Amino acid sequence: MADLDQTLAVALKGYAWLPDLRRRAGGGPVRTRVMGQPAVGVCGAAATRFFYADGNLERHTALPGLVVHTLFGAGAVHTLDGEDHRRRKALFTSLLSGDGIDRLAKIAGEEFDAAADGWRGGPPVRLFDESARIIARAVSRWVGVPLEDREVSALARACVAMVDGFATAGPRAARALVARRVQERRLSKIIAGIRAKPPTTSPLSIVAHHSDDGRLLDPRVAAVELLNILRPAIAVSWFVAFAAHAMDMWPRHQSRMRAGDDEYTLAFTHEVRRFYPFAPFLGGRATRDMFFRGEPIKAGTLVLLDVYGQNHDPELWTDPYRFDPDRFLGREIGEFDLIPQGGGDPRTGHRCPGEKITIALLGTLSRRLAELDHYLPPQDTTIDLSRIPALPRDRIRLVVPERQV
Ligand code: HEM
Repeated sequence: MADLDQTLAVALKGYAWLPDLRRRAGGGPVRTRVMGQPAVGVCGAAATRFFYADGNLERHTALPGLVVHTLFGAGAVHTLDGEDHRRRKALFTSLLSGDGIDRLAKIAGEEFDAAADGWRGGPPVRLFDESARIIARAVSRWVGVPLEDREVSALARACVAMVDGFATAGPRAARALVARRVQERRLSKIIAGIRAKPPTTSPLSIVAHHSDDGRLLDPRVAAVELLNILRPAIAVSWFVAFAAHAMDMWPRHQSRMRAGDDEYTLAFTHEVRRFYPFAPFLGGRATRDMFFRGEPIKAGTLVLLDVYGQNHDPELWTDPYRFDPDRFLGREIGEFDLIPQGGGDPRTGHRCPGEKITIALLGTLSRRLAELDHYLPPQDTTIDLSRIPALPRDRIRLVVPERQV
């Protein structure tokens, strides 16, 4: 079975594909084939260290065209290696750190409050779609892209489509490609306009004036990278929907969040990112012949790091299928164990540079939701693990009753 090409199995089994394959092979590295190419699936802290070790793997030949053209954008930081990657990555690590994180979380909190006022006493709203709009408005204000209301909704819809369409060819991928084309064109024009003005400290201006090698980025590539801030920030709405799912399934977490304990809120955000499915696995191509745990890996082999499997690995997480934020209280998180957004050092490797922003946005919005009087009317909250990316089926419908006086 492991010798047959598994591309179809990935599409059918989704998040369970690689964990199943590894389990059947006894848990160690597992050989397989995807997209007609030899691949080896690995999992665990040592595997993550191997995956991110400098020079072991390259990305630009490993990423499927569909993922590049829907999710990341052509020429994006995700597709670069070596010195080119390090220079481009510096743009993100400096922009997505420091005071800016709290500023963005504060704006998102204000936008949530304004939106929640409008939900009060009205018909059910879909939390997933509402959060995407809340974050779209917040992140575009933060970045400095001026948007009208109708453009906020269009941006939110487009970014959701880009994420929703990255893993399967068909109508979802087609929507993602169109959404990307429209947004790249629109943002390229904004970048060109900003370049005609003196630089400021806004993220938009910093991206517009960034140069990798003394020359400004092509305006379309600058738009791609601006979208690489807007799109994943808006994608935090997936985690907001999962947070609501967790509070609905296990209401004691909502009470603890309401008590206003910051340490617990942080533990809750880590557990949401660990427990719920988002990135299934990551891929890189071996740059030379090498070994991992005695297993020879030939140059050119695809190495797949099982992200979902590792976040549910009983060797790392006691009772991994139990949603338990307490596991993170007082625990140091190692660079290579909790990997929903990749592992290693984000400054040098490909690990997500937006992790702190994700945690701040998710913590703020989950806390706001916990404090909001609301209930979930009858609906289908099933999360289908064969669908990448997964989401509660009814996208979390939510009712906010009138305030009691
Ligand atoms: C990379 C997940 C939020 C910006 C990544 C990677 C993953 C990931 C799995 C790839 C790591 C690798 O290839 O080794 C997520 C998830 C998020 C999220 C699940 C929450 C929804 C964010 C945010 C931002 C961001 C909020 C920026 C505001 C990026 C960028 C990269 C990246 C620019 C490319 C890094 C590189 O190739 O060096 N993310 N991310 N992400 N993420 Fe995130």
